[in-house]
Amino acid sequence: MRSVVGAVIFGLACVVAAGVLLAADAPPPWAYGFAVPPPPAGTPAPAPAAAPPAAAPVDATLKHLPGSSLAFTLTQIRDAFGPADWYPGDHPQMPDVVAHGRRPDVRACSLCHYPNGKGRPENAGVSGLPVSYFIQTMADFKNGVRKSSDARKANTNLMIAFAKAMTDDEVKAAAQYFGAIKWTPWIKVVEAKTVPKTRIAGGMFLVEGEEKEPIGQRIIETPENTEATEMLRDARSGFIAYVPVGSLKKGEALVTSGGGGKTTQCAVCHGADLQGLGPVPGIAGRSPSYVVRQLYDMQQGSRTGTWTDLMKPVVAKLSADDMLAIAAYTAARPVGATANRGLTSAGR
Ligand code: HEC
Ligand code: HEC
Repeated sequence: MRSVVGAVIFGLACVVAAGVLLAADAPPPWAYGFAVPPPPAGTPAPAPAAAPPAAAPVDATLKHLPGSSLAFTLTQIRDAFGPADWYPGDHPQMPDVVAHGRRPDVRACSLCHYPNGKGRPENAGVSGLPVSYFIQTMADFKNGVRKSSDARKANTNLMIAFAKAMTDDEVKAAAQYFGAIKWTPWIKVVEAKTVPKTRIAGGMFLVEGEEKEPIGQRIIETPENTEATEMLRDARSGFIAYVPVGSLKKGEALVTSGGGGKTTQCAVCHGADLQGLGPVPGIAGRSPSYVVRQLYDMQQGSRTGTWTDLMKPVVAKLSADDMLAIAAYTAARPVGATANRGLTSAGR
């Protein structure tokens, strides 16, 4: 009898321990663009920072990029209601909401996601998404069922505010526009023991100098060319994602065979080449930081959209390290004509 009770208690303790481990796991800060995890709930807010330094004088010089005949000032490049479009020939004509947004509440989608929808690690790649998925996930933002697990992530809160302020027609126009642009390679995945030292600016890791540091259990996703991305918002200049050595192999086992019951084979729903299947979005070649945020948000219940139930069993048992490995592997999957598209273009 005693041993039975003991076994039951031991079993319960394990369940509780596992539960606590998952629930207490703070959001992996690197995926959300922070150096440290958020403070535990209930911690008093830190004293507001000292007044920001006086604004730098406006830089009125015209900037240029190699592949473009156009020229813009920094103010134009960052204009929230009409940011620079360096390569108008790279994409179909933008609907007004994508090019300009709508004052005062909806900023131009092209500001953060770029005119071609490639996006950056701190937001999302939005091109090549199935139109019905795009519309559904905008409704989820609007209805308060898609949030970030890290309340400090200000740009997700902005995204939610835009979704709330948009009309159905604007959502549809944006969904059709971005849906018509194919997802193409954008992120180079490199396994590495050490990574260049970075600083974080607006949720993005930027390389600083020549120094290196151990990667640890992080993915460091950084512009291939800091100035082109950070200053000029060059929509042709992509990203490098440094991932820990061994993560691609570990990720492959989880993605392709479920890791011995830990998760479900992704291809069943996301398509054989992970480039999407019918209304299910593609996950191949997408930002690994973004992917980890989504897996974590879905596991923790910050993202509980209408279609998220299908992902619940997939993420339930994953550790933060499993998510990292999965995202490293999916980010490294080929996209476009080189991959076997199979059935994926059907049913969009
Ligand atoms: C201030 C920057 C910003 C602007 C402007 C912006 N977004 Fe976003 N968007 C985000 C961020 C950040 C996320 C990712 C949220 C996350 O990772 O938690 C996102 C995610 C999305 C997603 C989800 C992608 C996916 O794969 O599920 C869609 C769709 C989207 N945005 C559409 C739009 C549209 C349409 C507009 C223009 C009206 C727009 N966004 C403007 C920051 C922005
Ligand atoms: C049973 C079907 C199913 C399986 C299996 C599945 N997914 Fe999903 N996945 C979905 C659906 C449906 C969505 C859209 C969820 C939503 O709208 O909230 C989704 C969304 C996602 C997203 C968010 C995409 C975005 O653009 O925001 C990621 C990342 C993802 N899945 C990764 C995976 C990975 C990795 C696996 C395998 C380990 C996997 N999924 C297995 C159905 C599935």
